[in-house]
Amino acid sequence: MNLNSNNRHEILEKNIGLLAILIILAISLGAFVEIIPLIFQKQITEPIQNLRPYTALELEGRDIYIREGCNVCHSQMIRPFRSETERYGHYSLAGESVWEHPFLWGSKRTGPDLARIGQRYSDTWHRLHLLNPRQLIPESNMPAFPWLEKKTLDSTLIKKKLKIFKNKFDVPYTDEQISNAQKELEGKTEMDAIIAYLQSLGHGMR
Ligand code: HEC
Repeated sequence: MNLNSNNRHEILEKNIGLLAILIILAISLGAFVEIIPLIFQKQITEPIQNLRPYTALELEGRDIYIREGCNVCHSQMIRPFRSETERYGHYSLAGESVWEHPFLWGSKRTGPDLARIGQRYSDTWHRLHLLNPRQLIPESNMPAFPWLEKKTLDSTLIKKKLKIFKNKFDVPYTDEQISNAQKELEGKTEMDAIIAYLQSLGHGMR
C-alpha cells in the first residue's frame, strides 16, 4: 500500500462523522440488495393456496401460546435440510406466514419444531401433555400448564382483534366471522383455545 492511500484512510478513520455515514451507507446497500427484491416476489408475499385465516378460537389460542412463552422453546420454521424434513415434514414456505402477526419462527429449540404439529396427535393427547408432559413423555423437561384448563376465555377483545387483522394486515376475515367471533368463544377454556391453535398449525400444506 502506498503512502497516499494510507493517508486517505487516515482521514476516514479520524473523522468519526464521515466514518459513521459511510458505514451506514455500506450496510444499507447490502440490506437493500437483499430486501428489495423480496418485496416484489409473489412467492413470498402471497398466501399459499390452502391458507385460511385463524378462527377466533385459534387466534385466542395463539395469543395464549405467546403469553405462556411456548415460542421461547419451540420454533415454527422447518429449514430445507433433509434432517429436518424427514422429522417434521415439508420445509416452511414464506406463503404460509403472510398472515402471521407477529411471526413465531424462532431459532431456539429446547423442544421440537411445531410448524406442522397440527393433526399429528389427538386433542386428548395435547390436553394430557399440557397438564403434565411427564405423564406421556417421562424424560420431558417441558413445564406443565395446568391453569389453562381452569380459566375460561376472555372474549371482550376478540372482535377488535379480528378487525385489526382485517383492516391493518389485510387478513381476509368476513364480516360474518367478525360478528360471530364472540359467540365462538363462549364457554371455552384457554386449554380449548391453545389446542385448537396447535391443531391448526401447518394446515395450509395438508
Ligand atoms: C422450557 C421449554 C418449553 C416450553 C416453555 C414449552 N415446551 Fe413444549 N416441549 C418442550 C420439550 C423439551 C418437548 C419434548 C418432550 C415432550 O414432548 O414433552 C416439548 C414438546 C412439545 C410438544 C410435542 C411435540 C412433538 O413433536 O411431539 C408440543 C405440542 C408442545 N411441546 C407444545 C407446547 C406448548 C403449547 C407450550 C406452551 C404452553 C410449550 N410446549 C412450552 C419444551 C418446552
